[in-house]
Amino acid sequence: MRKETDYRMMLAQAEGLLREERWCVAAFSHVSAMIMAMMEELNWAGFYLLRGGVLTAGPYQGKPACLHIAPGKGVCGTALVRDETVVVPDVHLFPGHIACDGASESEIVIPVRRDGKPAGVLDIDSPVKDRFSPEDREGLEALVRLMEEKMVWE
Ligand code: SME
Repeated sequence: MRKETDYRMMLAQAEGLLREERWCVAAFSHVSAMIMAMMEELNWAGFYLLRGGVLTAGPYQGKPACLHIAPGKGVCGTALVRDETVVVPDVHLFPGHIACDGASESEIVIPVRRDGKPAGVLDIDSPVKDRFSPEDREGLEALVRLMEEKMVWE
């Protein structure tokens, strides 16, 4: 049985991190590592950031993944363009899913905004189908909102 994530603890730890260090690279890296450590049954977690109009791999944990994803492509590009969270219970049923790690079965992607505009995504993959619950979505969205509020982009 999977142990559910304690999002209160995750948010408290992220707040502590951002009180000590607001630099976005430290925050992206540390939050990726925190997610991997605090959520069970994951194979990939990290950020893609818009650079020159293309989603580009930022800090992440997991196997080496695709470096570039065009807006509108894959789950990541879809979440970016829609500017809303996309939860995919079975990646094999998502048209245009980009398979970076063959182990992935389900995925959640949350847009990250800078000054209110789409600037990247948080992408999390699981080797288990239907891994992400409404509680995961809520907790991870709160985590991203906290980062958007406290982080310094540079
Ligand atoms: N599956 C993603 C690509 C990124 S990897 O999962 C790390 C997508 O379809 O956008």
